[in-house]
Amino acid sequence: MNEQTGVRPFADIDFSALNWRIGTDRYTSPEIQDLERETIWSKVWQIVGRADELPDSGDWKLYTLFDQSYVIVRGRDGVLRGFVNACRHRGNILCTEKKGHAGRFTCPYHLWTYGLDGKLIAVARPDLVGDIDKGDHGLVEVPVEAFAGFIFLTPNKDTKPLAEFLGEEVMERLAAYRLDEMTPVGMDVREALDCNWKVVIDAFSEGYHIIGVHPELLSVIDLEAGNSRHGFFGDHGMAVSPFEVKQTAECGLDAQVEGIRNLPGTFPTVAEVLPRFEELVNAYRDPSSAISFPEGVTVRTLLQQATRETLTGKGLDVSALTDDQMSDNQGWFLFPNFFMTIRAGEATTIMAYPHPGGDPNKCVWHVTAYMWLPPAVRTQYRAEPIEVTEPNSYPYFLALQQDYEQMPRQQKGLRNSGLGHMSLIREELSIARFHTVLDRYLARQSA
Ligand code: FES
Ligand SMILES: [Fe+2]
Repeated sequence: MNEQTGVRPFADIDFSALNWRIGTDRYTSPEIQDLERETIWSKVWQIVGRADELPDSGDWKLYTLFDQSYVIVRGRDGVLRGFVNACRHRGNILCTEKKGHAGRFTCPYHLWTYGLDGKLIAVARPDLVGDIDKGDHGLVEVPVEAFAGFIFLTPNKDTKPLAEFLGEEVMERLAAYRLDEMTPVGMDVREALDCNWKVVIDAFSEGYHIIGVHPELLSVIDLEAGNSRHGFFGDHGMAVSPFEVKQTAECGLDAQVEGIRNLPGTFPTVAEVLPRFEELVNAYRDPSSAISFPEGVTVRTLLQQATRETLTGKGLDVSALTDDQMSDNQGWFLFPNFFMTIRAGEATTIMAYPHPGGDPNKCVWHVTAYMWLPPAVRTQYRAEPIEVTEPNSYPYFLALQQDYEQMPRQQKGLRNSGLGHMSLIREELSIARFHTVLDRYLARQSA
């Protein structure tokens, strides 16, 4: 692959460097899933939670992937560490709950006890144990780091540091949003879906399906390819279509203002920005209530101004964010399985994990809506994590519900062995890039 880096407009992209023809077996084949497991999941940094899930020393949670299990724990020194969830004596699993709080970990089999730093502290009945080097029998540690409030873990002890995996540009751009200060609000849901994990990633990597699946968003999202911008940062990427429609006979100023009013269904923070936005718009209405803007003022600039003023008033420091970031919804992808739409003050993350049962036609998605709230009210509004076990029982917001219904339909189609491959179109270049990166990982095995 020719390396393309930085943010560029659609017109400047070298499309020939990407894979546009994706075999359907990539979504259905157990062999390919095994290969992914070996070349991706056991190798790369992956998000396993939020740092504020484990606020106190002794707080721990499990991360499981296929049949692999890790304990992430905050130590007495405040540092987050990850350990293989298995006792160093004869391998019994150490933690069986999903999360908890402990002063130390004691294996239930023969009562070996480990500290929060993984060190073997004590063995039961030393008289029966004989000579054993405690220093050599601590829990097996795996790298864990935090960035932007997310905990990352990799099973690969020899991996490069997280900062190198993400890259400076990704870290700088994301840090400006102050994601580490955002709180899950309204939705923090995990649910098994009847589709491969990459169907989820693909579905959130293109805007082409807005015409078929989310027509209500057409009045606020500019789909014109010429206006989109794409960031290529190593294995990761960003795409953005400005929140603005061209002024046309079909979509005049009133329709655009109406489009912004409808946004809170998808972007809840807009609700608190709306009063100031309406004020700003009303200043440009004539006595008959018709809107006319002078040169340089648009629905977009007023939304940006209202957002900056409202968020600043709330206490969020938005000084590192550009005007574009005030209005536009940037779609970020961090390889392998993290997608996030983010605007100033809010974000929605979608992660897709292979299904623990090993069926490539299933996955588990974890969807969380984040908002920046003043510190004093963060606990009060924090969403409880929910595990949905009954399909179609959770009330996702409209656009997400539309995607939720669409994805299993695509998987059903992909399972037809007569299909062979998918054909990507130019607008789907983030998908093409994702699969081109995947190609590179999968090839590492056979090389
Ligand atoms: S297996 Fe854990 S103490 Fe024996
Ligand atoms: Fe969608």
